[in-house]
Amino acid sequence: MSDITSKKVVLGVTGGVAAYKAAELVRRLGDQGIGVHVVMTEAACGFITPATLQALSGNPVYTDMWDARISNSMAHIELSRDKAAIVIAPATADFMAKLVHGHADDLLSTLCLARDCALIVAPAMNRQMWENPATQRNVAQLEKDGITLLGPASGDQACGETGNGRMLEAQEIADAVAAFLAPKTLAGVNVLMTAGPTFEPIDAVRGITNRSSGKMGYAIARAAIGAGAKVTLISGPSSQPIPAGAMLTQVQSAADMFAAVKKHAKGADIFIGVAAVADYRVETPSEHKIKKTESDALTLKLLPNPDILAWVAGQAKPPFTVGFAAESQNLENYADEKRRRKKVNLIVANLAQNAIGADDNEVMLLDDSGTHKLMRAPKEAVAKDIVARIATLYKAAKKRR
Ligand code: C5P
Repeated sequence: MSDITSKKVVLGVTGGVAAYKAAELVRRLGDQGIGVHVVMTEAACGFITPATLQALSGNPVYTDMWDARISNSMAHIELSRDKAAIVIAPATADFMAKLVHGHADDLLSTLCLARDCALIVAPAMNRQMWENPATQRNVAQLEKDGITLLGPASGDQACGETGNGRMLEAQEIADAVAAFLAPKTLAGVNVLMTAGPTFEPIDAVRGITNRSSGKMGYAIARAAIGAGAKVTLISGPSSQPIPAGAMLTQVQSAADMFAAVKKHAKGADIFIGVAAVADYRVETPSEHKIKKTESDALTLKLLPNPDILAWVAGQAKPPFTVGFAAESQNLENYADEKRRRKKVNLIVANLAQNAIGADDNEVMLLDDSGTHKLMRAPKEAVAKDIVARIATLYKAAKKRR
């Protein structure tokens, strides 16, 4: 189990149009294993109902100070006591002003003033409200007070204008909160990794690829960033959201991926090869689209691609190396054979039919000490457990050196 799985946050929702994104945010925080307890201002209830957030979070939603469900009438103290953070999303300009001045005139503002945990604020407002010197003064003061601000982003706004002030997307906020809460087991460590498929061109419009979505690799990048690592991510084509804080290089073919890995390999402390690299490439891709003929068969000569992981592991002073093995049968045997042949420190093995394109995954981890199985869970949670294991093994290997 990852260490943040037992953590809980208060999600404070204030009265802005972006309150509709709070529903999605509850879900995305839940994916990370974080327990969510929602507190809403009166204005927020005008935009989204407590019932929605109660159903999605599975916990009672609180909206006022005098809620009889808290036996000692100390809701403003009780609700934050076992929480790792209060996350305000969306945070209106007005609510931020209240935080700056220490107002305590409703449950959420009182809770913030009486908290003994971190406060994370995701602003959402019209661009002129955001740019107003009063708001900018408040932002500077909140930062001085040690409050973490997430966003805002720039883009289309509900008022029809375009500019700064849009709340970050729910996934981005959930990732940032998870990163904030994660134990910093890889602080200052340089992680180089590959993810996604590769695309090997046949001609100007066609190519050979595979069904890797990049989900597992991107989740590992996010988990490593959350653990404090500096992550360089070399990714084949993927439609996954780019992990915030990763240094991303996008590539197409295995040859491009290999060149990018070679470029960054020197400073890497850990290498994680998650990419599903195509085993073969077309010897001479055609510059123009190959025209179809009704009768003739088409023959393509395929050449083997370099094994990027084996190259990294074979360096004179290799980083701590982690490989993946997707098999359709004999998982443990094939994965262990791969680990020994490629001389990698750790292999993460999964059944291809369980993993490809899915949102969750079931993996086993094989290293010198044997095999550890992880329970089936969302890829985000599995990624955190994999990163925790990598951190433990990396530190042990470093001590032995
Ligand atoms: O040999 P196979 O493709 O099953 O090996 C899987 C592991 O090796 C993965 O970690 C993958 O990223 C890596 N690999 C690589 N370069 C290749 C083939 C696989 O880095 N050409």
